[in-house]
Amino acid sequence: MKLVGQGSIWWNGKLVPWSEANVHVATHALHYASSVFEGLRGYPNGDGCAVFRLREHMHRMVQSCRIVNLPLAWSEEQLCEAVLATVRANGYRSCYIRPFAFRGYGQLGVDPTHCPVDTAVIVIEHGAHFGVEAAEKGIDVGMSSWRRMAPDTLPAMAKSAANYLNSQLVILEAKANGFTDGIALDLNGHVSEGSGANVFVVERGMLLTPSLGSSILQGITRASVIQLARDAGLEVREMVMPREMLYCADELFLCGTAAEITPVRSIDRKPVGSGSRGPITAMLQAEFRAIASGTKPDRHSWLTRA
Ligand SMILES: Cc1ncc(COP(=O)(O)O)c(C=O)c1O
Repeated sequence: MKLVGQGSIWWNGKLVPWSEANVHVATHALHYASSVFEGLRGYPNGDGCAVFRLREHMHRMVQSCRIVNLPLAWSEEQLCEAVLATVRANGYRSCYIRPFAFRGYGQLGVDPTHCPVDTAVIVIEHGAHFGVEAAEKGIDVGMSSWRRMAPDTLPAMAKSAANYLNSQLVILEAKANGFTDGIALDLNGHVSEGSGANVFVVERGMLLTPSLGSSILQGITRASVIQLARDAGLEVREMVMPREMLYCADELFLCGTAAEITPVRSIDRKPVGSGSRGPITAMLQAEFRAIASGTKPDRHSWLTRA
C-alpha cells in the first residue's frame, strides 16, 4: 500500500491537508508503540463508496483502547462519522481506511499517563492486497519460526501497534524464505494466524478456524466468512487447531480486511488439496465480493454509504 501523499486526513477532529498531519520525533507512540489502529475497506458502490462493517471496526477500536488503557476522546459514533467524512473528502471509490489513536508529544519515558492522545483517519486508494492473481491462483505460505504473543504478554485481541512487531517478524521471515506470508503458532504450538490475517481450513466440506484462545485478532472478515458459510448451510467450528491440520486440509485460506479471502495453494511447499483454489473458497470469495460491491443485496447490513 504505497503512499502517494495527497488528499485530506482527519486529525483530532478536523480535516487537514495530507502534508500538515505530522508528529514530533518525541511522540510517545514512536518510542513505545502506544498506539491502536483499525483497517477498513471502502468498496465501489453505485456512483460512490460503501464502507464495509464500519460499526464493527469502530467498536473494535474502542475495545482495543480499553484493553491497552488508551483514553480515547471520541465515541464509537464520532469515529464512524470521522471515517465517513474522510472518505467523502477524498472521493475515492475503492479505498483502505486507517483510523488510529496514539500517545502523542508530552513526556519521554515508558509511563504514557502525561502524553496526550491524538486521533487520526487516513484514507488511501487501494485495490487487491496480494494482487488479483493471488485471489484466483492462491499464495505460497510458510509456517513461521516466530510464535504469536503468549496471552499474558501482549493482548492479541487489541489491534495495537505493539503486536505488529511480531507480525513484521513473521512476514519478513516468510519473504526471506520465498513465501508470500507466514502463519504463526501460539504459545502452545497450535495454529494462530497470519501476519495480518486469520486462517481457515476446509475439511470434508466443513470450515475450521482457530479459536480466540489461540492469540488471534478477532477478525471482522473472519466473522463475515463464518456468517456467509453458515448462510450457505456449511458447518463452521472454532477450535484449537494442530499444525498438521494445515497439511491435511482440502482447502486453506487467509482472510482479513486487506487480504479479503486469499486461497493458500501451498504450505511449507506442500500443495494444499489439489494445489489450486478450492470450490468452497471460491464460493465464499464470490459471495463476499457480491455483497461488498452491491451486486447482491446487503442482507446483513454490512455496508455504510459514505
Ligand atoms: C494479525 C491480524 N489478524 C487478523 C486480521 C484480520 O482482521 P480483519 O478481518 O478485522 O481485518 C488482521 C487484519 O488486520 C490482522 O492484522
